[in-house]
Amino acid sequence: MTNHVSTHPGSGALSGAGERPLVNLALVKGHIVASLVWFFVGLTGGLLFSMQFFRHYPFPGIELLSPGRVRMVHTNMMAYGFILNAFFAGMLWSIPRLTGFPILSDKLGRLFFWGWQVILAFVVGGILTGHAQAVEWGETPVFIDPFISVWVLLGVVNLVAPILKTRGRPLYVTLWYFSASFVWTVLNYLMGNYIPQFFVPGAGGAAIAGLFIHDLVGLFVTPIGWGLMYYFVPSILNRPIWSHALSLVGFWGLAFFYPLNGVHHFLYSTIPMYVQYGAVVSTVAVELVVTTVIVNFFMTLRGMGRTLVTSLPIRWFYTGMVAYFTTCLQCAVQVQLPVQQIIHFTDWVVAHAHLVMFAVFGSWIMGFFTELWPRLVRRPWKSRALLEWHYWLTTLGIWTMFLTLTALGLQQGYLWRGLNPWEDMLRSSIPFWVFRTFTGVLIIAGTVVFAYHAWATARQPVPAAVTERVEGAEPAAP
Ligand code: HEM
Repeated sequence: MTNHVSTHPGSGALSGAGERPLVNLALVKGHIVASLVWFFVGLTGGLLFSMQFFRHYPFPGIELLSPGRVRMVHTNMMAYGFILNAFFAGMLWSIPRLTGFPILSDKLGRLFFWGWQVILAFVVGGILTGHAQAVEWGETPVFIDPFISVWVLLGVVNLVAPILKTRGRPLYVTLWYFSASFVWTVLNYLMGNYIPQFFVPGAGGAAIAGLFIHDLVGLFVTPIGWGLMYYFVPSILNRPIWSHALSLVGFWGLAFFYPLNGVHHFLYSTIPMYVQYGAVVSTVAVELVVTTVIVNFFMTLRGMGRTLVTSLPIRWFYTGMVAYFTTCLQCAVQVQLPVQQIIHFTDWVVAHAHLVMFAVFGSWIMGFFTELWPRLVRRPWKSRALLEWHYWLTTLGIWTMFLTLTALGLQQGYLWRGLNPWEDMLRSSIPFWVFRTFTGVLIIAGTVVFAYHAWATARQPVPAAVTERVEGAEPAAP
């Protein structure tokens, strides 16, 4: 698969000319650490805001920490701090190994890395000081948006260079997903942050904002997430993906149907009904496409089910896939208008958001962090038990959060439908919201275990011999 790869413990394979390491390990490591730092910021925001729901918000009356602002810090840091940094780590590792060429420039990589962390700090500061942009998921302050646009472009240029250099060679499916996502993300960010704000107000702007929100998940997070799965799963199992043809169906199905889903965020709104019906149909179509991808991955695992027990990364990946299938199945059901009549505006939606953002992509991220960290620090994980604790605490936390909020959403929907007083709904929701905070504590506890374990592992003495496994293998060709 890669022409230029030679194994070179610790520093990554060499790229040939000038003996420049193929993978810039310091950058990969930096993005993982940054991702974890922002993850803690985001988690703290989520935990604090969740206490507002049962009137125990710890900072009442402090404008700088008002709950609405903290909520935006929570969501934005999850997307741009945790997930984006993690994905850059995964791509900085996998793209050079799949193409045989290093990123365009290590200097540019460092500039992107530090610039991005500064941007994130400004986003947090801007939101907390009341400068959020009034566009859902586009809350990054208007004065920071141009910097984000330029920086994402810089990051993309750096990563796209090795892919372009493969000119003429067939690209592995991971690289299709990444390449498409680069184009889509840049266009989507510009569309969502500028058009509703400056050019198209009202219902038209809402339709565009819906498209932006959905594409942020569907055309940025999803393709990079799946691209990474197509890389890591065959690489760890040491066997090719089951069907190349199905991976084609998954890719083109996503490309075709996903962008049409956006308006399903605004069902029963003033957006014309024919656009809403279109979104409903294409959402169901996405579920069919997703099924092909899931079948492909589970067939790849056929006969190797035990790796779910023995390999933590594989367990994380497949846990995320089960969540992905659940989330998409849920999508196909919840976009139906009769179902919307119950769940619209309830906590069901919040449950769904957490399932997709954390139970799916969070699990995949934790999986490849678990796989990469020992290679980056050139030491094996210190404790198997701590890896298990991380997995079980976090997984238990997110799934119980999902189930609690889903049940609550149904309860709220039926109470509203029965025209019960608003106070009844609030009173009966409080035990669920308290439990949601508890599930958040489980997630945080799991993440603390992981962060401590990563730190303790990096501090161990270097083992005498670094094995080939630590350096890692390429995915077998499809
Ligand atoms: C300590 C764990 C967490 C807690 C306590 C928590 C809590 C919350 C709360 C209270 C909200 C606002 C809900 C509302 O406005 O009704 C929220 C929204 C959200 N959170 Fe979390 N969260 C946690 C972890 C996460 C993680 C790990 C992610 C993603 C990686 C995430 C992604 C989101 C998203 C996308 C929303 C927006 C939901 C929507 O608008 O429907 N959260 N979270």
